[in-house]
Amino acid sequence: MMGDKMNLVTEQTKLTHDPQTLFNHYLGANVVYAFHQIGLFDIVSNRKVSITEIARKTGSEIGRLQALLQAGEILGYVNRYQDDFIQLSLLGEEMRKQIGYFIWSVGAYGDMLRRLGDLHTGEQGTSGLRDEGKVALGSDLMNSDLLENLLREILDSIPFQSICDFGCGNGRKLINMLKRYPERRGIGIDISTDAIVLAQQNIKQHGLSERARLLHANILDINASHKDIELLSEVEVVTSFMMLHDLFNIPEIRETLFDRLRNVFPKVKYFLISDTLQTPISYMKEKLPIFNVGFELVHAFMDVNIPTKEEYDLAFQKAGLTIEQCIPFGPTSTYLYVLKT
Ligand SMILES: C[S@@+](CC[C@H](N)C(=O)[O-])C[C@H]1O[C@@H](n2cnc3c(N)ncnc32)[C@H](O)[C@@H]1O
Repeated sequence: MMGDKMNLVTEQTKLTHDPQTLFNHYLGANVVYAFHQIGLFDIVSNRKVSITEIARKTGSEIGRLQALLQAGEILGYVNRYQDDFIQLSLLGEEMRKQIGYFIWSVGAYGDMLRRLGDLHTGEQGTSGLRDEGKVALGSDLMNSDLLENLLREILDSIPFQSICDFGCGNGRKLINMLKRYPERRGIGIDISTDAIVLAQQNIKQHGLSERARLLHANILDINASHKDIELLSEVEVVTSFMMLHDLFNIPEIRETLFDRLRNVFPKVKYFLISDTLQTPISYMKEKLPIFNVGFELVHAFMDVNIPTKEEYDLAFQKAGLTIEQCIPFGPTSTYLYVLKT
């Protein structure tokens, strides 16, 4: 008995939040997400702006805006000057930089996370409880600069004319690759209508409609009889960011996944794959890193097992791919694999 009590005390002291802090953190995450939604971060980053001007630019009702800004001020995200002027604090600037995590947790998975207690029996599915467009935007913004710098270094040394990004989300990574390599062509594939709509808008906005093609499809349904197979058969570099775990989770295709991909992309020379993989529980308890606990929790509720790094390494080797590089970046247990065919 005594021992149990001791363990409880040790466990409790490891937690970084007591109920009071937890309550305010929960509120804070929602306030930060609301700042993003109304466009406040861009308005008050590095400059003081009057509340009247903020209300005009965001279309906010003044009383509600005052309440939101007051909560943000108390929580430390904004500073107030001469009663009516607001500017992001240093903490607010950091929240702005890391907004991808809040778009992901509050915007994309907020409904699911609030309903864990309704879903625990497994009788109810989770479909409709995540916002696909926000999953795409949130994942895109999480440490996208780090990934894009790595991609540049790698792609600069690979000769290619055509690149395909499957699970392309909002298309931003494909767009950035095509902007860096003006004479190349790109294809984005995504199963989600929301993601494809966003990607279409973004491609148009960047004037890339001539060189970029989007396919609204499940990558697993693409085969030799697909109407765009000729286009796909020219692809030399295939990328996939933060989505391979979804495919890996389907036992029937796990072993044959790369054979299927090679059939779709017969000229592929490189696969560039990034993903967040399973993090040891002991590490998560010790460090409580941003993202991983939530990432593994929502995927468990969607019946998706997050693979370990050992499982990925083995699967790539079994598929006859050479792991030229495996570079950690961004959130804990997140890697960019450079796989040579
Ligand atoms: C976590 S998001 C990542 C989006 C993007 N790659 C990024 O890093 O910003 C995963 C994306 O993969 C897409 N996806 C999942 N399974 C797919 C499949 N079987 N075929 C095509 N797209 C798929 C989802 O719709 C979603 O847009």
